[in-house]
Amino acid sequence: MGKVALVTGGSRGIGAAISKALKEAGYEVAANYAGNDDAARAFTEETGIKTYKWSVADYEACEAGIKQVEEELGPIAVLVNNAGITRDAMFHKMTPQHWKEVIDTNLTGLFNMTHPVWTGMRDRKYGRIVNISSINGQKGQAGQANYSAAKAGDIGFTKALAQEGARAGITVNAICPGYIGTEMVRAIDEKVLNERIIPQIPVGRLGEPEEIARCVVFLASEDAGFITGSTISANGGQFFV
Ligand code: CAA
Repeated sequence: MGKVALVTGGSRGIGAAISKALKEAGYEVAANYAGNDDAARAFTEETGIKTYKWSVADYEACEAGIKQVEEELGPIAVLVNNAGITRDAMFHKMTPQHWKEVIDTNLTGLFNMTHPVWTGMRDRKYGRIVNISSINGQKGQAGQANYSAAKAGDIGFTKALAQEGARAGITVNAICPGYIGTEMVRAIDEKVLNERIIPQIPVGRLGEPEEIARCVVFLASEDAGFITGSTISANGGQFFV
């Protein structure tokens, strides 16, 4: 049996590609999801990867879910914090609810998921945490004050925790995808996507979920043990840090 990897938001979009790529790389994968039972069922039928339902915004649910995964599959060696949502609106139209939902899932979700696995990883002197941030946490994006704040926070979280984990054999890294061809991006108004966003991507296309998944597999590997606290930008040349 391979090492156990847990992927949040792991049954759809970029997360589904990550779950599949980790399975292909030999990991025993658990894919967490929050809402879409039909997609989760179809994903398990297609891939044989087990899915587990809870919200990363709920600390107690994360503790219970992680306990269940560890009882069924074994100790978690790799945690991929991928789950994320958007509630896009220009700031003057953004409600406190838009703000709270995005911060709770996209930022606090990283605390809620990482805290319960951290002690076990420290005890075992091994762990890989990969946080999926975003180009819009690096450059900011009009219409995404909530999302950009959360995703920038994910990078700070990564850098702080990398320093704490280093001596315990735990690496913590972030990946900042650009615009990837998933439901989340395709939900953007077509005119906005075609006229404002794609022209800003030098390679001239949206990214593929698999292009992010391959970065995760590398950071999760034992070979990447000297890389920690780093941010990999995979955005088709749209933004350089
Ligand atoms: N910079 C400055 N002003 C902008 C702007 C920009 N980039 N985009 C729009 N505006 C302005 C418009 O010019 C317009 O101004 P006026 O009212 O003075 O004419 C005003 O903002 C309203 O624009 P819209 O007509 O577009 O407003 P809307 O309320 O219909 O839509 C929006 C707002 C939903 C935020 C829409 O603009 C949008 O979807 N933008 C794209 C946001 C985006 O990139 N989201 C990424 C989602 S994918 C993702 O998040 C994954 C990832 O990690 C990359």
